[in-house]
Amino acid sequence: MGPVSSDAVNRYLKQTRELFGDELFLEKKAVSSTTGPTPINSDYPSDLVNFYEQIHQCHNCALGNSRTQFVFGVGDPNASLVLVGEAPGEQEDLKGEPFVGRAGQLLDKILAAIDRSRQKDVYICNVLKCRPPNNRDPLAEEVSECEPYLIHQINLIQPKLIVALGRVAGKTLLNVDKPLKSMRGSLHYYHGTPLIVTYHPAALLRNPNWKPETWKDFKWIRSIIDA
Ligand code: URA
Repeated sequence: MGPVSSDAVNRYLKQTRELFGDELFLEKKAVSSTTGPTPINSDYPSDLVNFYEQIHQCHNCALGNSRTQFVFGVGDPNASLVLVGEAPGEQEDLKGEPFVGRAGQLLDKILAAIDRSRQKDVYICNVLKCRPPNNRDPLAEEVSECEPYLIHQINLIQPKLIVALGRVAGKTLLNVDKPLKSMRGSLHYYHGTPLIVTYHPAALLRNPNWKPETWKDFKWIRSIIDA
C-alpha cells in the first residue's frame, strides 16, 4: 500500500466515529470449536448463476407459496467474506435481494468501513431464501429444506470467513440455542469454514449503543479476511 494522506485518515476516522462512536479497537483472540466440511453436492451446478436457475422456483416448503421473490444472494462469487442473515424481510421479498432495507443500508456502511462492499470481496445471503410471513423466525422444517442451498453456496464461494448476522442466524448455523452474547467473540466453524457471530444490523438500528461492540467484531473480521 502506498502513502496514506492525512485527509484520507481523517475521513476514515470520521466515518468510523459516525458508525461506532469514539473508541478504536484492537483485534480479538480466536477460540475454536469445529465441525467437518460437507462434500460438494453433485446434484447441484458448479456455479452460482446456474445454481440460482436450478432452485429459484423452489416449493420445498410452504414459504414458496407466500413469497414474492426468491432471495438467492448477492455479491462477489469469489468473496473472502460471506454474510448470512436469517431470512428476507418485506423489502427483500419485493426486490429479490438480501439486506436492501434500512438495516441493509447500515450494513453497507459497516462494510465500507472495512474497505469492502457487496460488489467487492463480500457475498450476502440468508439462511432462508424466502420471507416468513410477518417476519417470524424460521421454522425447523424450513431450515432443513433451505440449508442445503446455503451449504452449496458456501462450498462454491469457499470464503475465508462466514459472519452470522444476529442471534437467529447464529443459533441456526451453529445448531445451538444460546443468546447472542455467548456466541459472539468466539471463532466457530460451519462445515469446516470459520464463522463469527455478530449483531444484526437491525438490532443496531434499535440499540445504537451496541455499535462499538460491532466495530470490535468487524476489526477482527477484517484482520481474518486480510490475512
Ligand atoms: N434481515 C435479514 O436477516 N435478512 C435480510 O435479507 C434482511 C433483513
